[in-house]
Amino acid sequence: MTAMREDWIQPILDERQAQGLDRQARVYPEAGGIIKINGTELLNFSSNDYLDLTRHPHVMDRAREALDQYGTGSGASRLVTGTLPIHEELEARIAKEKGYPAALVFGSGYMANAGTIPVLAGRGDLIFADKLVHASMIDACKLGDAKLVRFAHNDPDALEQRLEQHANAEGRKLIITESVFSMDGDLAPLPKIAALAEEHGAMLMVDEAHASGTFGPNGAGLIREHGLEGSITVSMGTMSKAMAGYGGFVACSENLRRLLINSARAFIYTTAPPPAIIGAALGALDVLEASPRLGNILQANADYFRSLLREAGLDTLQSQSQIIPIVIGENERAVAISARLREQGIIAAAIRPPTVPAGSARLRISVTLAHLVDDLERTAKLIIAAAQAD
Ligand SMILES: Cc1ncc(COP(=O)(O)O)c(C=O)c1O
Repeated sequence: MTAMREDWIQPILDERQAQGLDRQARVYPEAGGIIKINGTELLNFSSNDYLDLTRHPHVMDRAREALDQYGTGSGASRLVTGTLPIHEELEARIAKEKGYPAALVFGSGYMANAGTIPVLAGRGDLIFADKLVHASMIDACKLGDAKLVRFAHNDPDALEQRLEQHANAEGRKLIITESVFSMDGDLAPLPKIAALAEEHGAMLMVDEAHASGTFGPNGAGLIREHGLEGSITVSMGTMSKAMAGYGGFVACSENLRRLLINSARAFIYTTAPPPAIIGAALGALDVLEASPRLGNILQANADYFRSLLREAGLDTLQSQSQIIPIVIGENERAVAISARLREQGIIAAAIRPPTVPAGSARLRISVTLAHLVDDLERTAKLIIAAAQAD
């Protein structure tokens, strides 16, 4: 038997290390905004458990109830025998909350994008994508083979220019953006983008991964807050962040849902999400319905925290959400600051290229409801001191 040749791997790893780009999946004892490591409490600003729901008793109860009722797995893909009543219950609930006629749940947010975008736009079609959309959207564009046109981040004029350049193109047109950007924490100008989509006969898909649960009525997101459900073809979201679980979804028309069921490969060729996780998502939606102001409290806390950092001269870009970047620049420096904060009980992961553009390595702070105002004030002081020390 010939040994597998892997001598090409070491040089790649060495080069990444030399560039300060080596990545590791560190082990953490739990998921929330406050965690204990070896008996010491740390404030975790790198968790997307924005509403502090991963250990919420009701969310856990609903996950347990689903586990007891259906068992651990769903047993098959959705189109075989994997669709359980609880999947359809969640889809109906998401559609109602998001203000769309229908919704479809996928195995993850990544898969929701990977499944939906290639159905909307394939060979011969055009996709106009904000420069900073998430990797899952970009990967999805490649899967469908549509021509990809990027436009400057959050710049409707740049989008308009691109749309005009391709005004006579044949085939379908799709615009994709996020409502809260995952690494910059800024908000897309959705009303302007929706108006351009309308004017140019383009579909519009908005990734609300970081807006679901954190903005809008009952946490329904920014599309709902702007009342744009009628102008945005697809509202995509994930259950993995504010909803404290796992799985993704799209809210859309009944017809698009039918088409996705028939042709979205990331929906068809994978096992249906397990019942407990669907139960947890329903639990999170119950909590949001019972406490519709959770997102407002989160945003007020984030505004305060951001103001402390800005007053000290730190660069938080155009952040207007619970995601607050603190741009450091060089990779090594961002990593060193993150390490110093870690020694002081603060987890604030350094995010480096290719996740963010070269030269813009940063700390990405997620404020969550686990963090009290005192925690935010103490953390702001430590971050400011660490960032100004070198
Ligand atoms: C903007 C955005 N879209 C999609 C995803 C993928 O979602 P999931 O983690 O549920 O796969 C993420 C994060 O992971 C994200 O930040």
